[in-house]
Amino acid sequence: MKAQFTRRHALAALAVSTGSFLTACKKPEEAGKGGDGGKAASGDVIKVGEFASLTGKEATFGQSSHKGTLLAIEELNAAGGVLGKKLELITEDTQSKQGESASVVRKLVSRDKCIAILGEVASGRSLEAAPICQNAKVPMISPSSTNPKVTEVGDFVFRVCFIDPFQGTVMALFAKNTLRAKNVAVLTDAAAPYSVGLATFFKEKFVADGGKIAVEQKFSSGDKDFKAQLTAIKASNPEAIFAPCYYTEAGLIAQQARQLGINLPIFGGDGWEAPELVTIGGKAMDGTFYSTHYSPEDKAEMVQTFVKKFKARWNGEVPDAMAALGYDSALVLADAIKRAGGTDGQKLRDALAATKDFVGVTGKTTLDAKRNATKPAVIIEVKDGKFVYKETVNP
Ligand code: PHE
Repeated sequence: MKAQFTRRHALAALAVSTGSFLTACKKPEEAGKGGDGGKAASGDVIKVGEFASLTGKEATFGQSSHKGTLLAIEELNAAGGVLGKKLELITEDTQSKQGESASVVRKLVSRDKCIAILGEVASGRSLEAAPICQNAKVPMISPSSTNPKVTEVGDFVFRVCFIDPFQGTVMALFAKNTLRAKNVAVLTDAAAPYSVGLATFFKEKFVADGGKIAVEQKFSSGDKDFKAQLTAIKASNPEAIFAPCYYTEAGLIAQQARQLGINLPIFGGDGWEAPELVTIGGKAMDGTFYSTHYSPEDKAEMVQTFVKKFKARWNGEVPDAMAALGYDSALVLADAIKRAGGTDGQKLRDALAATKDFVGVTGKTTLDAKRNATKPAVIIEVKDGKFVYKETVNP
């Protein structure tokens, strides 16, 4: 299921659909390397940068997000583009690696002269790139990074999803009210800002509501053996385990927990969302839960239309939360470009900041004074290897 991504999708798709001369502007050997010396294609396209983990440990995050983003860009172009210009999406792979986000976003900003940057999914990688966009006064929109610090980097940094104080609260209430747990162990990825933040917000709410943290154990992204931490967790006698990490580790954690005879509910946040969760975790994922941003089972017409279009474009694949948020991030940007009447960085920033009640597939996006959105969360249960929609929690 490894897809091959090149950097010029949108442009290629555009050329196919319109017979435009635009592809002729790029030498074929430049595709995939993306070098065009920073020359805008004679001002008749609007260049939008995207950075995403298309490969590596969190590859499904970047691939999903990219597919949603590209679908939106293609639809906008098919409808005539924005302000009479086509959008060109220039995508760079962060390889799920530390350090890559900064270097690829620097290229998108300085070399490609993108007017805005979409990305990343993981908060740690958005945090790496945000100062570059802020300093260059190029608006950045993260589709799905939920750590509050991302938009705190500065007034050119936005997101179209909820933030982790909300997600932590949702899962604390879920533990208390649905799991009926009073004593929860927490297992945190100390190397991921997302994990550290979500663990903190969960603990605050859970303890404030009278719950107890049995024990907190830590690991580091990329670890494969969680037996020591799980043994300590078992000894602390919790009623459930909260593991706010990404799917690779979550699958291994559940598997090793079951091997150690820990048959408690294990639950996490949006970082669990990937088909690989059950590929890695297998049967061990039964009795696990996580919160996320959207469910393709949502009956809303806009969601069902999106699911249909996405499946048609991407080989029958059902769009997940990253795909939906990627899609919305591109639409929110296009809407702001229209309202700004152009792509000047400051004007575009101001238009983005004024985004209000913009209807997308993940609900209405209104950007608050801190450039964050407020949206409902969805809770998913993993049952027999399937992701089953359980409930929607409104802010
Ligand atoms: N919210 C996660 C983060 O901030 C990323 C994520 C979003 C993962 C949506 C899955 C789904 O790092």
